[in-house]
Amino acid sequence: MSFADLDSLPKDPALAVERLSQQLRQWSASYYRGDHGSIPDALYDRWFERLLELEKQHPELVREDSPSQRVGTTPDDAFEKLGHLRPMLSLANAFDLDDVLAFDRRLRGLLGIESDNGSAHNIDTGSVPKLSYSAELKFDGLAVNLRYEDGLLTRAATRGDGSEGENVLANIRTIRNLPLRLLGQGLPSLIEIRGEVLMFRDEFERLNRQQLAHGEQVFANPRNAAAGSLRQMDPRVTAKRPLRFMAYGIGERQGGQLPDSHFGLLQWLENSGFAVDSLRRRCESVSALIAFYDEVCGQRDALPFDIDGVVYKVDSLQLQEQLGTIARSPRFAIAHKFPAQEMVTELLAIDLQVGRTGAITPVARLKPVQVGGVQVTNATLHNEDEIERKDLRVGDLVIVRRAGDVIPEVVSRLETQHTQHTQRNPAFRFPRQCPSCGSELFREPGEAVWRCLAQWGCKAQKRQRLIHFASRKALDIEGLGEKIVEDLLNHQLVDDPSDFYIITKHDLDPLPRMGAKRIEQLLRSIESSKQRPLSRLLFGMGIRHVGEELARVLTQDFVTLASMRQTRWLDPDLALPDGVGVEIATSLQAFFEHPGHQRMLDRFEAWWAPKVISDQALLEGRLSQRQQQWLDQHCPKDLIQGAKIVITGSFDGLSRDDLAGFLRGRGAVVLSSVSKHTDLLILGQNAGSKLAKAQSLGVRLLELRDFPG
Ligand code: IVH
Repeated sequence: MSFADLDSLPKDPALAVERLSQQLRQWSASYYRGDHGSIPDALYDRWFERLLELEKQHPELVREDSPSQRVGTTPDDAFEKLGHLRPMLSLANAFDLDDVLAFDRRLRGLLGIESDNGSAHNIDTGSVPKLSYSAELKFDGLAVNLRYEDGLLTRAATRGDGSEGENVLANIRTIRNLPLRLLGQGLPSLIEIRGEVLMFRDEFERLNRQQLAHGEQVFANPRNAAAGSLRQMDPRVTAKRPLRFMAYGIGERQGGQLPDSHFGLLQWLENSGFAVDSLRRRCESVSALIAFYDEVCGQRDALPFDIDGVVYKVDSLQLQEQLGTIARSPRFAIAHKFPAQEMVTELLAIDLQVGRTGAITPVARLKPVQVGGVQVTNATLHNEDEIERKDLRVGDLVIVRRAGDVIPEVVSRLETQHTQHTQRNPAFRFPRQCPSCGSELFREPGEAVWRCLAQWGCKAQKRQRLIHFASRKALDIEGLGEKIVEDLLNHQLVDDPSDFYIITKHDLDPLPRMGAKRIEQLLRSIESSKQRPLSRLLFGMGIRHVGEELARVLTQDFVTLASMRQTRWLDPDLALPDGVGVEIATSLQAFFEHPGHQRMLDRFEAWWAPKVISDQALLEGRLSQRQQQWLDQHCPKDLIQGAKIVITGSFDGLSRDDLAGFLRGRGAVVLSSVSKHTDLLILGQNAGSKLAKAQSLGVRLLELRDFPG
């Protein structure tokens, strides 16, 4: 599929509109299914614009289910009361195995179906009937009821009081993962589709970041964000919100051919164009239901959206009917709830944590509380603005949330009658001094974080930096964990990570918990960490903005620590790797020239220098020994070392990147454009304008030809 396909649309406008609509629908569906290789937004937009254009020229061709009809203007009847044809019931809850066993026993009793190990059988049929359940996720969103007439979406209402809700059709139409027209044949003349409107966690986070950036309301959780978005007066706003609809059942239906089991119905819903729970499972026993519960519980954090439990439903629609309802809940279903992801507790204190990069994070100390099955005592408060926005004060009752594998956070303050009428503590004042080293904190314009800039001069940062240096993804020094770092600091044995490498057995002897064997092991793992690639060292030194990946890219390009130290990172002529902008370059420059880093860098340069060759493994992997020798011969060392070199043209069998890597490895600074500071221009075939410029400036030239294959 390409942009060019737009030109091969049918000439007939009706056919073209049809083809465009079909394609757009297909792309939308595959986007929401999360298919790989979905198409770029720009392509979607081009096709969408063409559809709008054609529909504008031919208004008679605009169909109600056209992708262009998702976003309209606010209708007069928005949020008016709208009745459901069948009531929207709620679910009874089960909290443990006993509740589920009781549910199963109750149903078997009512239906006269013995459990598998029982002997009685249904008197009516004479056979031994089974009681099958459909087990599925309980989505944590908002229930809505959609009405389709002759396949077309005609009404949509919130659950409301169960008999009538609010008309949200205009907003519902903007949700792109639900069909405006049902797919398939033999459709009912009328059907109510029941499901939940929700937001994926990552899309919710993104929305909140956007809202914050625009100074608009942020939402406490995906559920609130979904509710707020659905209640928007202007459907154009809703259209921009990443809402999704997950179907889980039907209400009233007239005509059509539908399956006779709930499980079959979910499949039918999927075939009709709805998203349904893909983990759903047919279960024949309580133990199968519990196994489903346990599995889903284990996967809960990895799911893209919030759930608050699972639902078990009798699978046969006929048996469902037979069981009927009690107290506004159907007898045939039960929600088996998970431990809540949000709980209320007391905010005992606000502490400040100094991170490895100097970022100061306020942390809530909480009265211990179980959230999502885990005991929580601390939660992040993010930054100064967030504390202010939520108006959090010590002593407040707060809502704590733990979802996914994210750090628990304080969502909001709980306003109670009690807190309204009693005196609250004064507002929290964010300090201006580092809680660890006392140096002044800085907050850059447009940034929410306060930072301590003392780096290695700040004890808390030093501790975190040392721990980071030894951590698995950095130098991976086994046995050098938080506790030992703490001990080493207390005994003033380390100041920066290069000190790890000069520690002796004698130094370690007085440390607590250090027997002869552990000392030997630790010294061995410290020594062997010198074998790690340079990229790990670079990442381990904790340069701001230099993550694992960037460290790898930089070492590929600059090969040695010496060449990185020599590099003038802010030189506008310097050819920086992709993704390295001014911010990163500034950070690199500051790090390498910092007086406090020179001793450490000198040491590392000496220790890692013998490895220059093996750090070049990447390059060597691509170049044979003969090719390397050839390069050494043709690029004399005295010409290369310390020289500012520009490369132009192409080289048979040698990429410019590899050549640049080789030169940097030999101490050159490779730049992207010729200036009067250039020492040498290396010429390949088809040299361009750089040659002329170099000649006019009298820059020395070196021609490289006949690179051996
Ligand atoms: S069936 C008659 N299935 O849970 C029962 N409900 O208390 C109708 N919910 O707000 C509900 N996921 O919107 C059913 N897979 C699921 C569900 C589900 C979420 C919500 C539903 C309602 C509440 C029921």
